[in-house]
Amino acid sequence: MDAFANRATATTVSVSLVSRSEFKAWVATQSKSTKAWFKSLDFAGETGRVAQLSARDGKIARILIGTGKESASLWHFARAAGLVPGKGSYTLERLEGKKALPLDEKLANAAALGWGLARYSFDRYKKSPSKRRPKLVWPEAADKAAVTRTLEATYLVRDLINTPASDMGPAELAEAASELAAKHEAEIEIIEGEALLDENYPAVHAVGRGSERAPRLIDIRWGDPDAPKVSVVGKGVVFDSGGLDLKSAGGMKLMKKDMGGGAHALGLAHMIMDAKLPVRLRVLVPAVENGVAGDAMRPLDVLNSRKGITIEVGNTDAEGRLILCDALAEADSEDPELLIDFATLTGAARVAVGTEIAALFTDDEALAADLLAAAKATRDTTWRLPLHRPYRRYLDSKVADINNIASVGTGGAITAALFLSEFVSRKRAWAHFDIMGWNAQARVGRPVGGEAMGLRASFEMLRRRYAPESDAE
Ligand code: BES
Ligand code: MN
Ligand code: ZN
Repeated sequence: MDAFANRATATTVSVSLVSRSEFKAWVATQSKSTKAWFKSLDFAGETGRVAQLSARDGKIARILIGTGKESASLWHFARAAGLVPGKGSYTLERLEGKKALPLDEKLANAAALGWGLARYSFDRYKKSPSKRRPKLVWPEAADKAAVTRTLEATYLVRDLINTPASDMGPAELAEAASELAAKHEAEIEIIEGEALLDENYPAVHAVGRGSERAPRLIDIRWGDPDAPKVSVVGKGVVFDSGGLDLKSAGGMKLMKKDMGGGAHALGLAHMIMDAKLPVRLRVLVPAVENGVAGDAMRPLDVLNSRKGITIEVGNTDAEGRLILCDALAEADSEDPELLIDFATLTGAARVAVGTEIAALFTDDEALAADLLAAAKATRDTTWRLPLHRPYRRYLDSKVADINNIASVGTGGAITAALFLSEFVSRKRAWAHFDIMGWNAQARVGRPVGGEAMGLRASFEMLRRRYAPESDAE
């Protein structure tokens, strides 16, 4: 990871995040001239303010960054990476009275993760990538492996989403999955084009056939076949034009991100395999382009699905649930102990919780509690919405078993989740994430563009359930 250095050098600068009270206690122990210096800067540890102390030779001796009333946490450290000079390396120390102390494990992990998240940039197409490259000397107490895997997974998700649809079609998404599988010695099978019909993925095929670029079903298996089975499904729509029910220009603009759920499935798979969680993992990502070629599915077509449930296409733009229903039916048929899916499924989920919160649906109370607790611990903002069964009637179809759109315009994230639930057995411990997958506005550590949402929460939940003796975060 380019964001880190392994050890300090003679030019490494010490950085401390200080709350107002920590600063007050520290500065009281300093020399008269140091006190005068901070006084003249009018620095008191206010949020986001930076103050530097120079050494005799004019070089920076120490940098202080204010955190206001709060004590330092993940996003404060992310901010620090953007505030220090762009060259050189930095160590983080905690100020306590006159002492400068190393960070404890929890803070060390938060610091390294925040720094790493902030150091991400997508420069695949840039001739002159950003020259800002401040490096953090790995804090002694940090769990390097845990932080690195979280960063790698997040970078993977961001890169896959940020790559334009012209360079991230079904083939390229499948290629990324193959690379991941190879890295972890996982088995991978990719079912492509007409073979989807032979293998009984009719809905995946129906959506994907409207594009020159053939649809795929990506299928990864890893781990001890006798271990508890965890299955992860992700929506891999490499571009969502809406199909014949074409989106408006504004509605279509960001739709390269519509494979974000698939990217999350691969990111979570990376974390599970890298951590060698004692589970049997299955990953299913239907990868399609929702296009408008001559053979595209039409409104009011009736599709068959893997499960045999017939689906009336009320709207070709509700394509995510069509590809997911086949993948979920396959995942469910194997009786996994846990089934998790990620999808940039509905605009309605964004209306409900905005772009910065992952919407979670599950009927399993223990799973909901574990996911929400893990979300809190990893600062991965998640909110639960109800799988309100009475709304199922809005999906009734006059000609088929179910319609892919609701007959009412309200509660769209819920009706979409209910559609999916038809393909998962009632008893299954199943969690569905309806996510934005994109930072619409830049925040510290989260630049505009592709973003992992619900990923840290999901892995942390799995880690607590399957490897409780490791305590990374
Ligand atoms: N990929 C979109 C959902 C989406 C849009 C997610 C914008 C995040 C931001 C999905 O395929 C879609 O088009 N959904 C429709 C469903 C409708 C036709 C029932 C929507 O949300 O408008
Ligand atoms: Mn759509
Ligand atoms: Zn879509």
